Amino acid sequence: MTTPPGEVLVARAPAKLNLGLWIVRKRADGYHDLVTLFTAVDLYDRLHVRLKPSRITLTTNERRLPTDERNLVVKAARALAEAADVSLGAEFRLEKRIPTGAGMGGGSSDAAAALLLLDRLWDTRLSRARLLRLAADLGSDVPFFLKGGLQLGRGRGTRLTPLKPQAGLEFVVVHGREPIDTGWAYSRYERELTASTPPPSILALAGGGRLSRTALMHLDNHLEAGLVPDVPDIAERKRLLTSLGARVALLTGSGASVYGLFATRELAHRAHLRVARAGWTADLCRSVSSGVVVEGG
Ligand code: C5P
Repeated sequence: MTTPPGEVLVARAPAKLNLGLWIVRKRADGYHDLVTLFTAVDLYDRLHVRLKPSRITLTTNERRLPTDERNLVVKAARALAEAADVSLGAEFRLEKRIPTGAGMGGGSSDAAAALLLLDRLWDTRLSRARLLRLAADLGSDVPFFLKGGLQLGRGRGTRLTPLKPQAGLEFVVVHGREPIDTGWAYSRYERELTASTPPPSILALAGGGRLSRTALMHLDNHLEAGLVPDVPDIAERKRLLTSLGARVALLTGSGASVYGLFATRELAHRAHLRVARAGWTADLCRSVSSGVVVEGG
C-alpha cells in the first residue's frame, strides 16, 4: 500500500567521514579503485516527503543548492520511479545541515534518504540488492548511507564490508572556507599511479580486526597531498587539530573538511571551542551505528 496522500514521511540523513582513503589504481572508466574506511556521524540533514499525483518537486533552506534534476534527491526520485515503473510524484523539503563540498557525503546521504522514503511512499517492493545498485549508479558514496556505521569500502567505494562495532569515536570536523569539487580533487591526485595497497592493519579490519592504535596510526588520505598546494589551509587546520590533542587529523574524502579524532568527548569539546575561537566553522560529532533512518518507521 502507498502512504496515504497528505501524510509526511521524514528521514534523518547522517553525514560521513572517511577515516582513511587509499587510492589503489586509476580505472579505464575514469574512476579510481580505492579502499576507504567510512563512518557515519551524528550530523544530520532531514528530508521530508509527501505523496503527489505526478510531479517531483524539491525545496530547501540551503539557497545555494539547485532544486532541479541537478540535485541528487531529484535524480534519485527519477531513477527509482523508472526502476519501479511508478508514475506517482513526490514533494520534498530538504533541511540542510551537512555542509556541501565538504567530503561529508551530504548530497549522497540525501539521495539515499530519497530512495528509502520513496520506496516506502510508493510501495515499490524493490529488493534491497536493487536499491543498492540504484544507489551506486547515483554516486560512489550513496550505498554507504543505506548501511551506515563503520564500513570498509572497496572498488569505487560501493563494495562495502561492515566492520566490528566500535565504541563512539569523538570528532571535531573543521570545515573549509570554500567547497571542493570531487572530480577536481581526484584530478589533482598526481602521484605515479602504479598500483598501491593500503597498510595490512587496515585490510585486517575487513577480517574482523579492531580499529587498533596501529590501524589509527596508519590512517591516511591519498587525495590530501594533491589539494594542499591549492588549499593550503588544509595543512593549517590539521596542525591546529593536532596541537589541540587530536590523535589523527586528516582530510575527509575529497574535502574540504578536515576531521580530528579525539580520545574523549571532553577533549573534543574543548578543541571545538578553541577551533571556533580561531575563526573556523566546525562541528563536534560522534560516530553512529546507523545510516539513513526513516523516522517513525
Ligand atoms: O561517484 P561520484 O559521482 O561521487 O564521483 C564524482 C567524481 O569523483 C567522479 O566523476 C570521479 O571523477 C571521481 N571519483 C573517482 N573515483 C572514485 C569516486 C569518485 O575518480 N572512486
